[in-house]
Amino acid sequence: MGPDMSEIKSANSIPARLAIGQHRCQKPAGILTQLFEGFRLANTAKPHRFSPQGPLTGHLRIPGDKSISHRSVMFGALADGETRVTGLLEGEDVMATAAAMRAMGANIEKHGDEWRIKGVGAAGLAQPDQALDMGNSGTSTRLLMGLVAGHPISATFTGDASLSKRPMGRVIDPLSLMGASFDASEGGTLPLTMHGASDAKAIEYRLPVASAQVKSAVLLAGLNTHGVTTVIEPTPTRDHSERMLRGFGANLDVEVNGAERVIRLTGPAQLKAQNVTVPGDPSSAAFFITAALLCEGSDLVVENVGLNPTRAGLITVLRQMGGNIEELNPREVGGEPVADLRVKHSQLVGIDVDPSIVPSMVDEFPVLFVAAALAKGTTRTSGLEELRVKESDRLSAMAVALKLAGADIEENADGLVIHGRAGDRLPGTMTKSVTTHLDHRVAMAMAVAGLASEHGVEIDDTSPIATSFPNFMDLLKGAAA
Ligand code: S3P
Repeated sequence: MGPDMSEIKSANSIPARLAIGQHRCQKPAGILTQLFEGFRLANTAKPHRFSPQGPLTGHLRIPGDKSISHRSVMFGALADGETRVTGLLEGEDVMATAAAMRAMGANIEKHGDEWRIKGVGAAGLAQPDQALDMGNSGTSTRLLMGLVAGHPISATFTGDASLSKRPMGRVIDPLSLMGASFDASEGGTLPLTMHGASDAKAIEYRLPVASAQVKSAVLLAGLNTHGVTTVIEPTPTRDHSERMLRGFGANLDVEVNGAERVIRLTGPAQLKAQNVTVPGDPSSAAFFITAALLCEGSDLVVENVGLNPTRAGLITVLRQMGGNIEELNPREVGGEPVADLRVKHSQLVGIDVDPSIVPSMVDEFPVLFVAAALAKGTTRTSGLEELRVKESDRLSAMAVALKLAGADIEENADGLVIHGRAGDRLPGTMTKSVTTHLDHRVAMAMAVAGLASEHGVEIDDTSPIATSFPNFMDLLKGAAA
């Protein structure tokens, strides 16, 4: 089958939302990005009212895992030979990674349902001749900074208003120890220009924050470094980089000492092209699982959900709250555990969420807060400081949004306390709409709140949903039909 030209075109051209944050200067991003943001909202925002729903039923298949999709493109682009990927998430974030890898020499095309990636080979990344526009994507930015750090090239990273506020110091610190240098905006934010090292140094690095992005950045820099790069993680985070780097032929081992993990990568590594099947994204499934639990009469099968233990915390917590979630047809897809999940409407009860589970559901708290707002009793969450530096400050954004929809919430420095409505619907938003702050997960979580409300929830902008879940609205329509 010949290449599907429409897809190739969309992957090469920068969508309007990605282009807006493109700056050429190295000035502090604040005022400029706020201006751009105001302009963007005025011109491209897509407001939408999510109305109360009856039961969600039938079967739906969620798109590919975002974390695994980014890594498939990056590792394929670095490997010798042609990597073939099926099930790739075609959201804006992954397309930003693909555009950046093309700019550094890889050939990436879609043929039918399959993405084909011709890699540059070991140490083969070329210097990009334009700024790399990362759009909204923290994962693209931090992992690519790791890749560039191990190559003797320079690259400029830009992003949208949300990404331009996010901390990059957490990767700048270890990558500087490895020999890279940086000209970043004040406070270590985008836009930034970095210069990779011609002879990067292997380091031993203990993660100061539980972050798979920081872990991965250091390991990716280690690919083109002589010696053993060691990352120590006191709390385990998603392990897709470790699993996939090994699958692509890197010499990587993981030592488990109680909760702590010591990851050692021996470089330089020569990755070899692979065939990758990307499983469905548990973080996307989360919205439909929660919606089915909350909407009366629902009986929904969400197919192909990745259940890697470093990602499945939400399922554990929802079950602790009384959620009826059954695993059907457990199997392995692309080296990851996967199952179809049958979810039935359930009366949830509030719980104290164990902070040690946070890294395995770090992206799922916005929608868990919605579940808690409908539960019987109080749900207490803590240890969530990292939520303040995601695509938005998710503690504040969700507290404000849910209060606007009628929920009873207290915001603490490191979590929310939510007094649930014991199954009564949320009233919904009346005069004002919810502000999503360019955050796809805030938008989708509040869409779920709208389904479980009396009068519906109005959202200022649904366009950020395309970063991770382009067919969210269609799937929602289908399940509610
Ligand atoms: C990701 C890691 C997490 C997560 C993000 C994807 C990854 O970020 O929030 O959506 O693919 O490595 P942190 O490492 O900042 O926790």
